[in-house]
Amino acid sequence: MRKKLVAGNWKMHGSLRQNARLLDALVAGAGGMRCDIAVFVPCPYLAQAQRVLSGTPVAWGGQSVSEHDAGAFTGEVSAAMLGDFGCRYVLVGHSERRTLYGEGDDAIARKFAAARRVGLVPVLCVGETLAERRDGQTEAVVSRQLQAVVDHVGSAGLVGAVVAYEPVWAIGTGVTATPGEAQAVHAAIRARVALADAALAADLRIVYGGSVKPQNAAELFAQADIDGGLIGGAALVAGDFLAICQAASKLGTD
Ligand code: PGA
Repeated sequence: MRKKLVAGNWKMHGSLRQNARLLDALVAGAGGMRCDIAVFVPCPYLAQAQRVLSGTPVAWGGQSVSEHDAGAFTGEVSAAMLGDFGCRYVLVGHSERRTLYGEGDDAIARKFAAARRVGLVPVLCVGETLAERRDGQTEAVVSRQLQAVVDHVGSAGLVGAVVAYEPVWAIGTGVTATPGEAQAVHAAIRARVALADAALAADLRIVYGGSVKPQNAAELFAQADIDGGLIGGAALVAGDFLAICQAASKLGTD
């Protein structure tokens, strides 16, 4: 049975003061939850996250990573640097990186590999735009995004990684995929991975992202192939994020 993961993507939000309040509230509320919990914080706040979250049930990670290990890449942050600040996870291929910063499938696959090289857990984000969904391309798009990574690291490279299905049209819009719509795509992703390795597919955590809120989390997480959530807006409000964690925890396994 896969343990649920609830991860907060703070995006480019926060300040030392705001983070201190949010992190303290998360630590206070996370005890005893039967799910994994993580926050993806902006890089300058990794040290703060490490200081406050070390020894607590809340893990932390970076929102992106360089495909390179070191060198003349101004503005980039390497996987080893994230590791230096205790990150367990890193987001790879978030739709905002794909759309706003032109990250393509191949670059994302190289970032995924860079994370793996230092033992970080990559959370590979995949998802279709509204136009692609209307065109009936949803499964083709997420399969292509996944396949680019498999081509680079092999299916064994997915062991222990996380996939986040985030339909682009549901991110930050308040429009959520219905539980049935999300479940169908999650099942398709798992079936695709199963073609290469059934055991890997059975263990792979596939979380849903896109306007998850306390009001819809329980029904989404109850779907057979939805193993938790990647939360944007609601991750900035401690009570909301903890309520979403609680929804996952109620379905938890240990
Ligand atoms: P949202 O963001 O929950 O605000 O839709 C999700 C994400 O971008 O990961």
